[in-house]
Amino acid sequence: MPATAPNTDPFQLATDLSGLLLIDGALVPATSGKTFEVINPATGGAIGQAADGDAEDVGRAVAAARAAFPAWAAMPARERGKLVQECGRVLAGHVEELGRLIALETGKALRTESRVEASVLADVFVFYGGLGSELKGETVPFNPQMMTLTQREPLGVVGAIIPWNVPLLLMALKIAPALVAGNTVVVKSAEEAPLTVLRVCQLMNTVLPKGVFNMLSGDGPGCGAPLVEHPDVAKITFTGSVETGRIVYTSAATRLIPVTLELGGKSPMIVCADADLERAVNGAIAGMRFTRQGQSCTAASRIFVHDSIHDAFLAALKARVDGMVMGDPLDERTDIGAIISPAQHEKVSGYIKLGEEEGGTAHVCSALPTDPDLARGLWVRPVLFTDLTNQARVAREEIFGPVTCLIRWTEFDDVIAQANDSEYGLAATIWTRDLKMALAATQRLQAGLVQVNQNLVVQPNLSYGGVKTSGLGKEASLEAMLEHFTHKKTIILNMG
Ligand code: NAI
Ligand code: MG
Repeated sequence: MPATAPNTDPFQLATDLSGLLLIDGALVPATSGKTFEVINPATGGAIGQAADGDAEDVGRAVAAARAAFPAWAAMPARERGKLVQECGRVLAGHVEELGRLIALETGKALRTESRVEASVLADVFVFYGGLGSELKGETVPFNPQMMTLTQREPLGVVGAIIPWNVPLLLMALKIAPALVAGNTVVVKSAEEAPLTVLRVCQLMNTVLPKGVFNMLSGDGPGCGAPLVEHPDVAKITFTGSVETGRIVYTSAATRLIPVTLELGGKSPMIVCADADLERAVNGAIAGMRFTRQGQSCTAASRIFVHDSIHDAFLAALKARVDGMVMGDPLDERTDIGAIISPAQHEKVSGYIKLGEEEGGTAHVCSALPTDPDLARGLWVRPVLFTDLTNQARVAREEIFGPVTCLIRWTEFDDVIAQANDSEYGLAATIWTRDLKMALAATQRLQAGLVQVNQNLVVQPNLSYGGVKTSGLGKEASLEAMLEHFTHKKTIILNMG
């Protein structure tokens, strides 16, 4: 079958992609020949193998990207942009295929999450592909005899390390601006979700010159660390945990290369007494990301509800979550799929137990799937905690599961202080009809993204990134391309 023909049988596709890396335009096994299993979280069964890349494979991929760099960087920016837009068009023809494969390997439901992610993916390439001619410099009024100007230049080989929760979108937000700016790229996928991103790389390599976009799989210390340490990598862009972000940043610091980090969150949602209750409940459903099993760095995981409407809000929210169907991610009826891995399942279950030990009341929602084929799947019934304070560990630490704390409040100043009392600062929302309160919240909340009466997800054209331990630098938007994937060269021509 030609690589570009859509294949909507995810089991077959997983087999076809097994044991391979993509280096210099070709699908190849790891040098060591080693592989590791890729598991379907909904059944616990293996769906294929991923190549277990190591430092030697990193060396091959970086060498290919380095060799491809001069020609790619020298191509007129609009031409590069057109190729990146062409990648978007190819990917748009594979939405169903990519959606089904990502559902199979990550356990995210096809209808509510996986198909949505696959379709947004193409849009990111089309958006950035259009920005080629925005790589503009400035002229500087320095001296009449001297023509003084700045120009944007690519950095070189960009290393991108991505997580498993939204691998397609989070990868696209890194590689689309990196490529349009004239960099070449080596991506290291997450252990839990290596196959769909490999398929994306394969499809894009039917459009891009060889070596421009390479894909590695392997574990963090064995494959991710050597990528960060490689002397020919000029920049690292990373999304994942705070703990690993610190390791990556430390390692990049010893080589003095720039780093973009998109890390965790514990995002507050503030519901005021005058809020439109139905709208706020809809916002909580979107914000809590229970359709993604809560596996989102932006998840609204602390909901501060005004005391006067707390019980009504809880009842309405619980009814909605109870109505969500847990089950086979590939089934169109399913709202909530499975947790990515046994390690995450254990972590999330541990936090639910901890919340009860801390004095919280766990309102356990929805129902486990009954299909015997799913008996060994990694299921967690969604939990709404009440009767906890913002000091509880479950209200302070990132759980990355379908668990949200509802916390009562009465005084506006106090709720803003509680919302800000967190090591994180990724996103925040406030729900009110009172303009004064809304404006005050936008000014006082410490977060990279503050929304009033809505809970939109990341958009390609809006700057995105956190403050405090949520990260460093911004992704998405023109700004991300200019500030994080180019450097500004100053040029002076003395014609005196
Ligand atoms: P992680 O941060 O360890 O993994 C993310 C990526 O980093 C993966 O590709 C991994 O292979 C790579 N990596 C791991 N160690 C590395 C090293 N020493 N050098 C270079 N690369 C390395 O995250 P993990 O273990 O999958 O999840 C743990 C927790 O992290 C989650 O429970 C959640 O709280 C948080 N997380 C946050 C994400 C976000 O979107 N901000 C995404 C995934 C996880
Ligand atoms: Mg880890």
